[in-house]
Amino acid sequence: MKTAIIGYGKMGREIEQILRERGHEVALIIDQHNTAELDAAHLAGIDVALEFTTPATAYDNLRTCIAHGVPVVSGTTGWLDRFEELKTFCQEQQGGLFYASNYSLGVNLLFRLNRRLAELVEHSGAAYQVEIEEVHHTQKKDAPSGTAITLAEGILEHLSSKKQWVNFAPIFDVAAYQEKPRHALTEEDLVIRSVREGMVPGIHEVRYENEDESLVLKHTIKHRRTLAMGAVIAAEFMCGKQGIYSMDDLLQ
Ligand SMILES: NC(=O)c1ccc[n+]([C@@H]2O[C@H](COP(=O)([O-])OP(=O)(O)OC[C@H]3O[C@@H](n4cnc5c(N)ncnc54)[C@H](O)[C@@H]3O)[C@@H](O)[C@H]2O)c1
Repeated sequence: MKTAIIGYGKMGREIEQILRERGHEVALIIDQHNTAELDAAHLAGIDVALEFTTPATAYDNLRTCIAHGVPVVSGTTGWLDRFEELKTFCQEQQGGLFYASNYSLGVNLLFRLNRRLAELVEHSGAAYQVEIEEVHHTQKKDAPSGTAITLAEGILEHLSSKKQWVNFAPIFDVAAYQEKPRHALTEEDLVIRSVREGMVPGIHEVRYENEDESLVLKHTIKHRRTLAMGAVIAAEFMCGKQGIYSMDDLLQ
C-alpha cells in the first residue's frame, strides 16, 4: 500500500512506524512547513492518506484528498461541525472516508458497553447520577475529546432523563468548548468533565452513582501505539474502497 501521512506530530510519527513495520510505503508526509505539497501531483498514485492534524486544518486536508480520488482515514477531532458537509462532498465525488473519534480497539469495545449499560440503566428504572470524565495531555487542542462526545451520544441515545451534554473544561487555551455555569445545570444535562494534565494519552470514565454505590466503565490508553495501529488497520481496510465507514464497519 502506498500511503500519505498528513500531520507529522505525535500520531503521524507513530503511524509512520507501524506502516513501515507492516510493509507499507510512506510516499508522502505533509506537515505545517510543506502544506502546498498536498496537491494532485503529490497525491497521484497514493492508495490511502491518514490525516491527524488540528481541528482548524482537518476539513480542508480531507476535502483535498477526496477531491483527488484518495481515500482518507480521518483521526483529527474537534472539527465535526463540518462532518455532514464533508460526507456530502465525499458522496458527490464517490470518494472514500473513514472516521473514528478513537482508533483503539478497547475504546470501541467501551463504546458498545457504554450503549448497552445506558440501555440497561434505562430499563431498570434506577436513579443514578451519570457523568463522563476524560483526561488528556495539556497540548490537546479540543475539549471535550471526540471520544467523550461519542460516549455522551451513546448515553443520550438510551437514557431518556438526559437531553444534552455540557462540558466543564476548567482549563486554559482550548480552541472550542461549550461551557455552562454550574448553577445553570439541570437534571437533563449530561456533564462531561475535561481534565488536562501531564502527558496522559487518554483516560475515559463513565460513572453511574447514587448515595450507596458507584458503577464505573473506564478505559486507559497506556501507549498511543494502539491508536496508530487501529488507524493503520483502517487504512488497509480503505485501500481501493469508496464510501463512508466507521469502526463499527471495521469491527464487523
Ligand atoms: N481518532 C483517534 O484515535 C485519535 C488519536 C489521537 C489523536 N487524535 C487527534 O488527532 C489530532 C492530532 O493529534 P496529535 O497528538 O498527533 O497532535 P500533534 O499536535 O502532535 O500533531 C499535529 C501535527 O499536525 C501538524 N499540522 C498542523 N497544521 C497542519 C496542516 N495544515 N497540514 C498538515 N499538518 C499540519 C502540526 O505541525 C503537528 O505536527 C488531534 O486532533 C487529536 O485529538 C485522534
